[in-house]
Amino acid sequence: MTSVKTKINIAIDGYSSCGKSTIAKSLAKELNYVYIDSGAMYRAVALYALQHNLIQPSGAIDEAALEKALDMVLINFRYNTETGQNETHLNGMNVEKEIRTLQVSNHVSRIAGMKAVRQKLVKIQKRIAEGKGVVMDGRDIGTVVMPDAELKFFMVADARVRAQRRYDELRSYGSDVQFEEVLGNVSSRDEYDSSRTHDPLRMAPDAIIINNTALTLDEQFDFVMNHVKRKMEDVSNVV
Ligand code: DC
Repeated sequence: MTSVKTKINIAIDGYSSCGKSTIAKSLAKELNYVYIDSGAMYRAVALYALQHNLIQPSGAIDEAALEKALDMVLINFRYNTETGQNETHLNGMNVEKEIRTLQVSNHVSRIAGMKAVRQKLVKIQKRIAEGKGVVMDGRDIGTVVMPDAELKFFMVADARVRAQRRYDELRSYGSDVQFEEVLGNVSSRDEYDSSRTHDPLRMAPDAIIINNTALTLDEQFDFVMNHVKRKMEDVSNVV
């Protein structure tokens, strides 16, 4: 019989700024699982490209040069005891704040659309998932990275509500952005992420939908935890 403590993998996909990471982090904390923010990894590659002038002012990406440089892009997460969070590091530097700027957001979808970038990051993400006990959020987690995840959620919410959340987050970092600018970015990223050729944003057929437009964080957490508890009982009862 499988141990009661058998660990499962949980995939959380969905549109931009749906609150995926908030739920994923709380879930990982509650279960003592590893939380992986896959979007942060794509953001780190976009930041690298910006830092190395591989993105022209026009927005054009020097894809050949970026592809060549990918082996020099080292991304990892380190636990910060002060914030109690895993923070993103790019080539040894803590870039947790820099990767959240609107400048990075404006370029990240096209970076994430590059086949070579996806191949590199998906490989790392799959390796992490092998250890089980992982909560990972992104766009292709339930479909490509962890198609065998025991539990999959797909989060949706009204675009204006999502933009307001991202706007509040950016303002809290001291950014001088305008709401309409953030709304435009959220909408265009959704459009691009859903229509790109490589691993587009799709809901896995076995995913559970959460529309959190009108849900509080506690309500979302309770909803997700109920599913997790049920799934863990099922898994524990497998002979
Ligand atoms: O979750 P986020 O907004 O931080 O993600 C940043 C971008 O990265 C998003 O526009 C889409 C892309 N992304 C992706 O293509 N695949 C993932 N698994 C995660 C993010």
